[in-house]
Amino acid sequence: MRIADRMSRLGTETAFAVGAEAAAYAAKGNRVYPFHLGDMDLATPSTVVEGAMQAIRDGKTGYSPNAGIAPLREAIAADVAASHHHPFTAENVVIQPGGKPTIGKFLASVMNEGDEVLYPNPGYPIYESQIEYLGGKAVPYGYLEVEDNFDLDFDSIERGITDRTTVLILNDLQNPNSAELSPEQRSRLAEIVVANDLYVLCDEAYYDIRYAGTSVSFIEEPGIAERSVILYTFSKKFAMTGWRLGASIGPKELVDVIAKINVNDESCSNHFVQYGGLAGLQGDQSEVLGIIDTLRTRRDAAAAGLNAIDGIRCIVPDATFYLFPNVTAVMDRKGFGDYEDFRRAALEATGVSFTTRRHFGRQQPGEVDRYVRFAYSGIGVDDIAESLALFKDWCEA
Ligand SMILES: Cc1ncc(COP(=O)(O)O)c(C=O)c1O
Repeated sequence: MRIADRMSRLGTETAFAVGAEAAAYAAKGNRVYPFHLGDMDLATPSTVVEGAMQAIRDGKTGYSPNAGIAPLREAIAADVAASHHHPFTAENVVIQPGGKPTIGKFLASVMNEGDEVLYPNPGYPIYESQIEYLGGKAVPYGYLEVEDNFDLDFDSIERGITDRTTVLILNDLQNPNSAELSPEQRSRLAEIVVANDLYVLCDEAYYDIRYAGTSVSFIEEPGIAERSVILYTFSKKFAMTGWRLGASIGPKELVDVIAKINVNDESCSNHFVQYGGLAGLQGDQSEVLGIIDTLRTRRDAAAAGLNAIDGIRCIVPDATFYLFPNVTAVMDRKGFGDYEDFRRAALEATGVSFTTRRHFGRQQPGEVDRYVRFAYSGIGVDDIAESLALFKDWCEA
């Protein structure tokens, strides 16, 4: 069969393959402790469920407007205007089936073929995939491990900028390393963006998943909001990964272009699900806070379990539901040079299933330290403690 050339440039999320491998291992009767996927095992708040059910009963089962239902666009605009201190209105919001569609639609809207796009690596693999699929050149920038954070590697950003660079992708509160920009880093990055006249995709998928402190958006920097689109999603905050509801938020001219892509791609997001999201935003927030409390307990258990292992160093982030421990010493001690060998051996010996740095963009020359990602959004606190005790024994044997 002849497949179009452009498909050779489309990447994927290789973390799903780890999930399939873990499922196959479990099907043989083995116990698996799932730290590999950023999916959630927590219930969607009942406000959302009831809102969507009522909308079905009310007959909200036809097409919705391409940009989404007006009350949801208004509610998201009000919510984000308050948290981001920026006067967004419904005209700045276009509803999407999840957070992910914003990535490709934003790039299709602002990036010409041959343009260069700076993107985080390690980072969410769909950036690299969509940049290259749409004919751009993906230029990675990195992070540096410091005591309590992964700092943006400004040298790699400055080295990466050429006269063809048109876009920066930023995922503050990052997947996989949970990195968070300091105020100084935000303003330094904003100066670079403005000086080079770049568009910005602000992927804020984890903006509301935080355990201490306050999230501050990059769009609050001077000169950034007018050149940025925010990736907003209900997936994490409302434990709605499978419902598929999110939004692109930004200047009206850009949002209108993205809405035109909606017309071509899916016509509209699911009509009654939008009413579920609206009810979630407007209703009682106690279940949402319960989700954060549960995740905080899991974070503490997972970080403590990993940091108790000789040869593992794990930063304890204030946000997201990922840990990105440095496992260089353990891999060296046990004689593993290859990430996949290490991951598979751990799965077979202990049932602990995780992803590695290799699942988050192409490895860059000069990388010395090795990292793996533990997602704690889909595993309960007792299983975290039990599994990391097994993992400790194996790592230290
Ligand atoms: C950084 C980042 N951006 C976007 C997404 C996509 O989220 P959604 O499930 O809402 O499409 C994810 C999902 O894991 C993510 O980690």
